[in-house]
Amino acid sequence: MAKITELHVNDHTLRLEADAERSLLSVLRDDLELTGAKYGCGEGQCGACTVLIDGTPAHSCLTPVGKVGQKRITTIEGLEQNGRLHPLQQAFLEIGGMQWADGTSVMIMAGAALLKRKPNPSQSEIVRSMEGNICRCGTYPRIIAAIKRAAGMKEGGSQ
Ligand code: FES
Repeated sequence: MAKITELHVNDHTLRLEADAERSLLSVLRDDLELTGAKYGCGEGQCGACTVLIDGTPAHSCLTPVGKVGQKRITTIEGLEQNGRLHPLQQAFLEIGGMQWADGTSVMIMAGAALLKRKPNPSQSEIVRSMEGNICRCGTYPRIIAAIKRAAGMKEGGSQ
C-alpha cells in the first residue's frame, strides 16, 4: 500500500507516515492533532471537514491524503498569524457568529477563502459561497454580518 511521508500544512512541512488512501481529515485529526476540521457526515454534504487546499475550500473527509501531494493545506489552526486572529475569526467573536463546534470551522474557512478571492464581496456572493455548509444553529445572519465586517478589516483586526 502506498504511503505518504510529507504534508505541507499551515506553512510547515510535516513528516509523517500514512497510507495514501486514508482521508486527509483522518490524517489531520488523528496523526497531526489538528482537530479544527470536524467529522460530520463523511459524505461531502455538511462541510464540517472543510480545509483549504491551495486556498480553495475542500472536503477533507472525501480527499485521499495521497492526492494532496505538494499542495498547501490550511486548517483553521493556521489562520491566525503571529498570534493575531484572522480578521474573520475576530469578527465572528465580536458579532457572535459562533455556533456548535462543527459548523464554526467550516463557516470561517469558507469565508476566509472568499475574502482572499474577493476582498469586498456582495451579500449574494457571501450567500453563494456559504452554500453547502450547514449551520444547525441557524446563525446565518450573524455569519454573513461577520464576513461583511471582516471585509472591512485590515490584518490584525482593526477597521
Ligand atoms: Fe466532510 Fe460532512 S464531514 S462534508
